[in-house]
Amino acid sequence: MEGCEPRPLYRPLADREILLGVSGGIAAYKAADYLRKARALGAAVQVMMTRGATRFVSPMTFEALSGRPVYCDIFDSGLEGAMPHIELSRKADLFMVLPATANVLAKAAAGMADDLLLASLLCHTRPVLFFPSMNPSMFTNPATSANILKLRELGHEVVEPEAGETACGESGKGRLPDWPLVREAVLGHLSLKNLKGLKILVASGPTREPIDPVRFVSNRSSGKMGRALALVAARRGGEVTLVTGPVSMDIPPTIDVIDVETAKEMAGTVKELAGSADIIVMAAAVSDYMPEQALSQKLKKTSGKIALQLVPTEDILASLLKERRPGQIIIGFCAETENLYENSLKKLKKKPVDLLVANNVAMPGAGFDVETNKVMLINKDQERVDLPMLHKEEVAERIWDYVASRFIDT
Ligand SMILES: Cc1cc2nc3c(=O)[nH]c(=O)nc-3n(C[C@H](O)[C@H](O)[C@H](O)COP(=O)(O)O)c2cc1C
Repeated sequence: MEGCEPRPLYRPLADREILLGVSGGIAAYKAADYLRKARALGAAVQVMMTRGATRFVSPMTFEALSGRPVYCDIFDSGLEGAMPHIELSRKADLFMVLPATANVLAKAAAGMADDLLLASLLCHTRPVLFFPSMNPSMFTNPATSANILKLRELGHEVVEPEAGETACGESGKGRLPDWPLVREAVLGHLSLKNLKGLKILVASGPTREPIDPVRFVSNRSSGKMGRALALVAARRGGEVTLVTGPVSMDIPPTIDVIDVETAKEMAGTVKELAGSADIIVMAAAVSDYMPEQALSQKLKKTSGKIALQLVPTEDILASLLKERRPGQIIIGFCAETENLYENSLKKLKKKPVDLLVANNVAMPGAGFDVETNKVMLINKDQERVDLPMLHKEEVAERIWDYVASRFIDT
């Protein structure tokens, strides 16, 4: 029966082998937490520690969390008959160093190999992902800046630390980023870059149309589908701007976020940004109607009936299609509660977008305010692809796969 499929988990790191190098910084304790979170996304994680790192966190902590032995010593690895620096670095789909000390950055930039982690970095044949974390004076020291530049020139990815209060009690740039940004960096590092350099505008979430200063007309959109589309596009190299109505969600700083409230604000902002966008995704649940007049004072309670006079809001998708420039790709969303395909075709006739993503929001596990969705992709030629019930980030992956394969020359 439709809607009774098991709810899929999102495991974008399933079957991925991560080699996690931990060096001797105060943020080494966070690596233990991040390891758990990476495993929850499906990754197998092999930990390698510097001698310095073992002074901060016991290898036993990482052994328990990874379910594997932890390697610290190039001469005494416990790996039978093997050369651990070669063996471990070759197996990895992703080699990441978190936290990366100033010392490791310097030695890696110089190509030194005087411990297991450094030797393994030299053996690894793909770009490494470094997460520097240190005292702000150490980070802004020109020697560290030069080492980071060198590592980037060598093709590695170095994620900027965050500004704020560091564990040493000082304030400045040097903090290890929180998990959402680390997760995006990891997923981005492993992603195809098939949206590289494209300017992508995603409109998402509900709008609120004021009745009076405390009440509004709105809808049940959570903005989760738009957020997923924005995150996945940024991982694939897109330059993403998310215009969102009022939602309560963390959005990692890989995305530029512009907050709006009403349909009018959403229309103004989206139209202003549309001119420079290569791809526009209208995933927002924009109110179709708004109160004719918002009262300036709170409406008083009375015993009688009251009527709310509503007037239509601007149809943003229709406006975008009118102004569309050659080559611009426009993707629309269609939320229906019945006759999904037939109603979607009617919408497509009226508004000929490149791709219409239709979802039955009445189906359990699909549509508003849930983690999953079940959608149908319909293109201009009325070709239809039915996707199964998936986590919204996976739906976003399938939508971007479709867009990249059909509309983008690579
Ligand atoms: C309490 C303490 C905290 C430290 N925190 C950091 C840090 O956050 N980042 C860093 O680069 N170095 C830090 N250091 C210095 C490194 O531990 C030191 O440079 C060490 O040689 C690093 O060795 P490794 O890079 O081989 O792990 C800290 C040292 C101490 C004693």
